[in-house]
Amino acid sequence: MNTPTPLSPAPASAAAVQQAADILREAIGFAPDAAIVLGSGLGGLADAIEGPVYLPYAELPGFAVSTAPGHAGRFVAGRLAGKQVLCMQGRLHFYEGHPMQAIAFPVRVMKAAGARALILTNAAGGVNADFSVGDLMVIEDHINFMGQNPLTGPNDEAIGPRFCDMSTAYTPALRTLAHEVAKAQGVRLRQGVYLGYMGPSYETPAEIRAFRLLGADAVGMSTVPEAIAAAHCGLPVLAISLITNMAAGMAGKLSGDEVIETANQKAAVLQRLITGIVGGL
Ligand code: HPA
Repeated sequence: MNTPTPLSPAPASAAAVQQAADILREAIGFAPDAAIVLGSGLGGLADAIEGPVYLPYAELPGFAVSTAPGHAGRFVAGRLAGKQVLCMQGRLHFYEGHPMQAIAFPVRVMKAAGARALILTNAAGGVNADFSVGDLMVIEDHINFMGQNPLTGPNDEAIGPRFCDMSTAYTPALRTLAHEVAKAQGVRLRQGVYLGYMGPSYETPAEIRAFRLLGADAVGMSTVPEAIAAAHCGLPVLAISLITNMAAGMAGKLSGDEVIETANQKAAVLQRLITGIVGGL
């Protein structure tokens, strides 16, 4: 019989964040130039980190544990492109049953541990008909279709304001840097709007048609809660989607295996791009 998954409570206080951040900081021994969240099938970037130090999420107070396939559930810290980086090898998803606040928590902890920028990666379905499987897309903005927001509930002003401005949640200067690095590497980098969907079922073709009308270029089941948490605590964000499949109704049937397979095939290109971006921070 499977053991039940521990879904954490959701500590939202600055004190709870700082307690976990102190332990993390002590374990890794530096303030990260960049924190990087590795999406489905993209955990391999962690293998390129020099002098890696590993810390399972389960060892930090207040952390929930990821159950999603392809998500290792640990921090990997070390050097990448001459910079100090802190990677989340595996993220938490709303569809796993984690409260939104539990998904926000690691972002707050990484900021409190001294991270200067957050790089989010994800696997996403292409909604824009001009996109192709294997494309990379810088997220310029999002549509939150997950039905919840990680900032609901009591607000600790020591973390961020009650009403959080989202006008430039995806930091323009980091997007510019991403495009410069992509150009130098000869990588085609799209830019567009990511629609966050609760999942875990994939969307219906009718939903995808509706999302396209709303202005979505890609759809996925992550990133939005982390980006909101980062905007709230003042952490600059860059987010890049790997288009692992065309969204429902646009090509064949969808499967999680296809998503992981494409992610594995294209991971090297995304990893090289992120390494270049980290080097330019
Ligand atoms: N929809 C939602 N999430 C996804 C998809 C998709 O088509 N592909 C990868 N993650």
